Amino acid sequence: MRRTQNRGWWWVWGLIVTVAGAMGSRADDSPPDPTRYRSPGQLAISARAGRLAVADQTRRSVVLVDADKWKIAARVPLAGRPTAVVWDPAGSVLYAAEHGAGTVAVIDGAKGEVRSRIRVGKWPAALAAAPARTPRRLYVGNQDRHTVSVVQWDANGPQVVKEIPVSREPSDMEVTPDGRYVVVANLLPHGSGLDPDLSAEVSIVDTQTLSVAHAVKLPPGSTLVRGVCVGPKGRWAYVVHGLGRFTSPITQLERGWVNTYALSIIDVAEGHRRATVLLDELTRGAADPHSIVVSPDGRYVWISHTGVHEVSRVDVGLLHELFEGNVPKWLVDLKDGMRDNIWVEIQRDRSKISVLQDDLTALFIARAIERWPSGGTGPKGLALSADGTRLWVANYFSGGVSLLQTETGRVDTTLSLGAQPEPDAVRRGERIFHDATYAFQRWHSCASCHANEGRVDGLRWDFLADGIGNAKDTVSLVWLHHTEPMNRRATVATAKECARGGLQSTNGLVPTEQDVEDLYAYLTSLRPMPSPHLDENGRRTAAAVRGKAIFEGRAGCAQCHPAPYFTDRKMHNVGVLSPNEPDGRYDTPSLIEAYRTGPYLHDGRAVTLREVLVEHNEKGLHGKVKGLSEQQLKDLIEYVKSL
Ligand code: HEC
Ligand code: HEC
Repeated sequence: MRRTQNRGWWWVWGLIVTVAGAMGSRADDSPPDPTRYRSPGQLAISARAGRLAVADQTRRSVVLVDADKWKIAARVPLAGRPTAVVWDPAGSVLYAAEHGAGTVAVIDGAKGEVRSRIRVGKWPAALAAAPARTPRRLYVGNQDRHTVSVVQWDANGPQVVKEIPVSREPSDMEVTPDGRYVVVANLLPHGSGLDPDLSAEVSIVDTQTLSVAHAVKLPPGSTLVRGVCVGPKGRWAYVVHGLGRFTSPITQLERGWVNTYALSIIDVAEGHRRATVLLDELTRGAADPHSIVVSPDGRYVWISHTGVHEVSRVDVGLLHELFEGNVPKWLVDLKDGMRDNIWVEIQRDRSKISVLQDDLTALFIARAIERWPSGGTGPKGLALSADGTRLWVANYFSGGVSLLQTETGRVDTTLSLGAQPEPDAVRRGERIFHDATYAFQRWHSCASCHANEGRVDGLRWDFLADGIGNAKDTVSLVWLHHTEPMNRRATVATAKECARGGLQSTNGLVPTEQDVEDLYAYLTSLRPMPSPHLDENGRRTAAAVRGKAIFEGRAGCAQCHPAPYFTDRKMHNVGVLSPNEPDGRYDTPSLIEAYRTGPYLHDGRAVTLREVLVEHNEKGLHGKVKGLSEQQLKDLIEYVKSL
């Protein structure tokens, strides 16, 4: 009886799946709707109100949780993807960044209603509120404009009083307890692929002068800087990021040869990087650190690692002692054969601190790090209770928030944000793409290099498929199935092969056919964002319209970069030569989203679009740019930015 009923339901289900499948294949370019999943991203706790704010990235809402009763109190629909949430110092008003909508929602934390909205850049991605006892202010990091908007309140309500340029794609920030500085993490490096010291930086904004007081460079290869927090005394900032070994050819994955993951410690007022330590173990990467929070006493930081479904706790109190040369006796006695360990070497010679960024054992031998399962899959946001005993972790893919006891690192309980539908192929593929357990010793996920949902890390990498000593700038995967062949030297014919090859060679594990299909479904579901360089109505500016005529007309760009995908899918020599590739022939790249995929050209030598067309086009083989006036060149670039 039960069986028959079941079969009946399966029949209906089969029909739904068939119809959905047919719709999927008919509308090749309209991806399935992700809004049915629950995907908690960022978290913020109001100690005063006992409320935990959970940003649900796919549902585009904020879920307010009563932290003590451990129950959902309200759901607040938003106008954009909530990339950041922060409480005002009184703990009664919640701000939520609405990415894509260009606003910050001001939410009544008790009622769970949006009271008003503040206009900022189109892609707000980071928020920080000025602390109590300082003038009311909100700082908003704009991913699209690479700026921080300073919001102040007067009789007419909130006003943006200043927009401060930072480095590239501000992703997270925090204000020092005295309100003096805002420490801003920039997601990506901003520089040329030929620079061996290429790295992302941390911008320290002085809130009195409203300008960047210090641009703190992270070690070479630093990218995907996602989390920052400031210690309770305001002296130290802690930043988590990837640390790519992009100057070595990818001959192996072992021992962090390709990607490692790091914690950088910055003296805020001095604008000086004290040290960078690695969070990985010798044979187990700590891929894709996302968020970081510090305990109220400043002793520990907690870090989420999206790629390995873990959280780690680092004893930064101990690290500061070790940097000062105060090495406990048991650690002095811990010899590496006959040799002293790194901490003893640092005790002897403080300049050796710089070696830590290459040392995969330093934290472990000092027992300064512990790692635990996060209680779900794809952990991102973190929040710590005011007494430091409870840690909340947002698990993006499993759709819940877990609660860990900080004493033991154990998961106490998990709260689901609601029913989570069975993942379809796209969602399964999204998970594989972000999952470093699909890589040898968890050294990276696809997202460790293709950040921002399949875009770029701003670095170049020397894969061996096209020879050695010819590193290629990471390419965006948007529309990859319309831009075959793949890779800058067209070394792979199809996008599907590339998905398989990515898992097999880049990640170093043999995938199942299902994994490949799922990953491919995700990759082909990626869609360009509407360019933030369009006007408020989503239309091209007058300059971009003029540029379009030049692009299609006298400059001859459209010959090789024809709409709609802006590539002829052929190889050309446009006069950009590299020593190991004397024929100079490269696959024409798509120009869609070129505003965010820099640096440019096969080796990333050009930082800006202007450099592509002018500085790296001496022979004039790359489009007919030479006869253009300054204004025409500007218009042409405006057009490329609008794609
Ligand atoms: C270490 C950094 C890194 C990792 C990890 C990585 N990629 Fe890439 N990817 C690159 C670079 C660099 C290129 C450009 C290579 C070239 O042009 O020869 C690229 C190119 C590609 C392309 C070709 C795109 C095109 O339009 O030509 C695809 C597809 C791709 N990657 C998918 C993946 C997938 C899937 C994964 C995970 C299994 C992955 N990548 C992991 C750096 C990386
Ligand atoms: C003869 C074909 C051809 C023409 C004409 C041409 N391009 Fe290109 N374009 C290419 C190729 C091939 C590359 C890749 C070169 C490399 O990787 O070093 C490229 C690269 C670029 C890039 C860098 C994209 C990236 O992601 O690295 C930009 C931007 C660009 N072209 C814009 C233009 C503009 C604007 C024009 C017109 C002035 C133009 N191109 C004309 C073939 C062409």
